[in-house]
Amino acid sequence: MNILFVSSEAAPFCKTGGLADVAGSLPPALAAGEDRVAGILPLYGQIRDEWRQQMTFRKYIYVDLAWRHEYCGLFSLEYQGVTWYFVDNEKYFRRDRLYGEFDDGERFAFFSRAVAELLPHLDHMPDVVHCNDWQTAALPVYIKDFAVREEAYKHIRTVFTIHNIEYQGWLNPESVTDLLGLDHGWWDTGVLKMGDGVNLLKAALLTADAVTTVSPTYAQQLHDSFYAHGLEGVIASVSDRMRGVLNGIDVVSFDPKKDKAIAKNYSSRRLEGKAVCKAALQEQMGLHPEKDTPILAIVSRLVAHKGMDLVCQVADAIMDTGVQLVVLGMGDAGYEDFFRGLQGRYPGRVAACITYSDALARQIYAGADLFLMPSKSEPCGLSQMIAMRYGTVPIVRQTGGLNDSVRSCQVGQKDGTGFVFARYDAGDMLSVIGQAVALYHSDGFKVVQRRGMVADFSWKKSARTYRDIYANLPG
Ligand code: GLC
Repeated sequence: MNILFVSSEAAPFCKTGGLADVAGSLPPALAAGEDRVAGILPLYGQIRDEWRQQMTFRKYIYVDLAWRHEYCGLFSLEYQGVTWYFVDNEKYFRRDRLYGEFDDGERFAFFSRAVAELLPHLDHMPDVVHCNDWQTAALPVYIKDFAVREEAYKHIRTVFTIHNIEYQGWLNPESVTDLLGLDHGWWDTGVLKMGDGVNLLKAALLTADAVTTVSPTYAQQLHDSFYAHGLEGVIASVSDRMRGVLNGIDVVSFDPKKDKAIAKNYSSRRLEGKAVCKAALQEQMGLHPEKDTPILAIVSRLVAHKGMDLVCQVADAIMDTGVQLVVLGMGDAGYEDFFRGLQGRYPGRVAACITYSDALARQIYAGADLFLMPSKSEPCGLSQMIAMRYGTVPIVRQTGGLNDSVRSCQVGQKDGTGFVFARYDAGDMLSVIGQAVALYHSDGFKVVQRRGMVADFSWKKSARTYRDIYANLPG
């Protein structure tokens, strides 16, 4: 089968979040099997020269987006067994950032339409087009629309994956004909229409041949209005073709045995190197060099749905448990200021790095003892898996993929890879932080660390599930 993976970001080319990690590691995992796998991305201004130098210019076409007539270049390179295509249009993609521009709707409508029109120009016409999140949500509609008239599109099947249902791609109703350039029927029949506007995510859910999301628990939770952000009715109507498939992580890149960014490599059998990483982290962060003080780490976007309000509510009580706290991330100014202030109040005990850094994140995964992720909602979450792989014991809320990837340590039970609390409540979180700190000071800690380190977070199993989904698409 020919698979085309369509996404608005993919590591190592361009990244703002977990979507890029998935889009960068699932395609090569799929390519390890029988299928031929390609990926396609916008050619953002941010994509570095290192990659541009490896690209071959393939061709250009013009893409009509309603009354717009837009240049569309196509480049490609080979990486890890996958052909990566890049869609070039400087007006849309040479910007300061990937998203957050005033015309994001138009930029990604262009990307989706461009991909649809480029399909016959790729090395291999795909059998399955796998789209991800709202930025690519118009594509299943375009493919169905083109298939009515064009023979070459009739056999193509589409899969749509929800990484986060909060972002839905809302457009005004005029955009049906004025931007998307689609027949008004797509609105009249209720595919694009949601209330008074166009909702691209809804359209993708209704037109894709299969829908997936990134963990089984999140798939269940999406039936609940608390998590579905208004789309619970649509989810109910597609539930017979929707599945939750837990993400993996790139276990080659995230490997404490080989990671070049950390002070000393180590493994589950030889954990001594982790103590060296901890000392290095304390020194680098200006924390007291105390080897028996547990370091609790947060590596996260500093936004409400990641549970930062819980941390703020009980920050002093967390410090009273005797931990050092390391925070890495950016986000809402209120949280950024809060953690800077906390560092000021606890010199040598709190380090707030209000930035984004891949290398620093790895040094924290390696040097910390405990990892806090109290998300309000979490479709999958990757950091908890990375933390476990580096022997850093996660403390998570029981939601979405956190629930599917962390096994709770319970008294008297000889299993568990971390600590889990159920209610979204600062007191409940604090109480499991206390349990985790107590475990840290006992002999049992190493056992829990090792269980996490040897757990299988590779893509192997989930890639097999996706292959199964592709192979069993209807018609
Ligand atoms: C989104 C979700 C996150 C998930 C990631 C990759 O960023 O918020 O939970 O891990 O996508 O699927």
